[in-house]
Amino acid sequence: MEQQIEQILQQALNELQSASQAAQLQAFSVQYLGRKGFVTQYLRNISQLPAEQRPLAGKRANEIKNILEEALQKALQEIETRQAAEDVGIDVSLPGRAAFHGSMHPITQITRQICEIFSSMGFAVAEGPEVELDHYNFESLNIPKNHPARDMQDTFYVSEAIVLRTHTSPIQVRYMEKHTPPVKIIAPGKVYRCDSDITHTPMFHQVEGLVVGEAISFGDLKGILTVFVHQMFDDQTSLRFRPSFFPFTEPSAEVDILCVMCRGKGCRVCKQTGWLEVLGSGMVHPAVFENVGYDTSRYSGFAFGMGVERIAMLKFGIDDIRKYYENDIRFLKQF
Ligand code: PHE
Repeated sequence: MEQQIEQILQQALNELQSASQAAQLQAFSVQYLGRKGFVTQYLRNISQLPAEQRPLAGKRANEIKNILEEALQKALQEIETRQAAEDVGIDVSLPGRAAFHGSMHPITQITRQICEIFSSMGFAVAEGPEVELDHYNFESLNIPKNHPARDMQDTFYVSEAIVLRTHTSPIQVRYMEKHTPPVKIIAPGKVYRCDSDITHTPMFHQVEGLVVGEAISFGDLKGILTVFVHQMFDDQTSLRFRPSFFPFTEPSAEVDILCVMCRGKGCRVCKQTGWLEVLGSGMVHPAVFENVGYDTSRYSGFAFGMGVERIAMLKFGIDDIRKYYENDIRFLKQF
């Protein structure tokens, strides 16, 4: 008899599961819990059991009755809810719409990667305003009034004395004004130039670097940048320092890396030269130190600045910078 009631329970639960109409539940209720239902009948038959078996059997039968009553209530409720949804035109049997997962923009990813590499070498992260005084963007960086970089075509002027910063170098000056050496910072951020083609957008990102202390040499600059390039790309990616000119560094060097596409053989990306220009650098010009009140006989330092989009294009093999800012989800989804 005990077995019988457990079987009834199983069968009842199975039936409930497949019931999808209120009428089926009605029949279920009569068949199992009604006056002549299985469970009621079973309870009645308990009186015929030997006296010592009755208490246990009775207890179990009542438990089962409760289980079934509860399950029935739940099933009824589900059907009611579904009916209500259908009444207002919602088909609850349709598969759900998957939540859309966003991801970090590729430029943010590369900026963070650059910052992580320098942080691991002990650099702190500094920031500065995007709307900048002419003084910080140019004057304090030893960029004279007639320098081509100040040409109206390159710079977005807010007013005569205020510009959208054209590089992250003003952060060097702002930082040095507030801190005494040793200085070891990087400064990531947006910069603006009135320029737009396949390799230029009016807004792009740079990461600036500045190290100042006693006896800091060009050798330190080479060492730090070599470690950076090896970590960013791989240690087969060699570097080349090419003499260059920036008003705020002396001597200055442009840094090329071995073409990551052709490994130096010459291809379309490196314009058959085997090398790719990735950043500007140099020893901080004494005039910049004087502008922030640093003792030029005691301190020396180096600075560098790189374009994040450029590095990201090489890293991801992308040939049109504008793709980063068209907000085409099919493009952005790939990173
Ligand atoms: N600010 C320079 C540029 O935007 C890059 C640079 C930074 C060069 C620091 C030297 C030192 O081109």
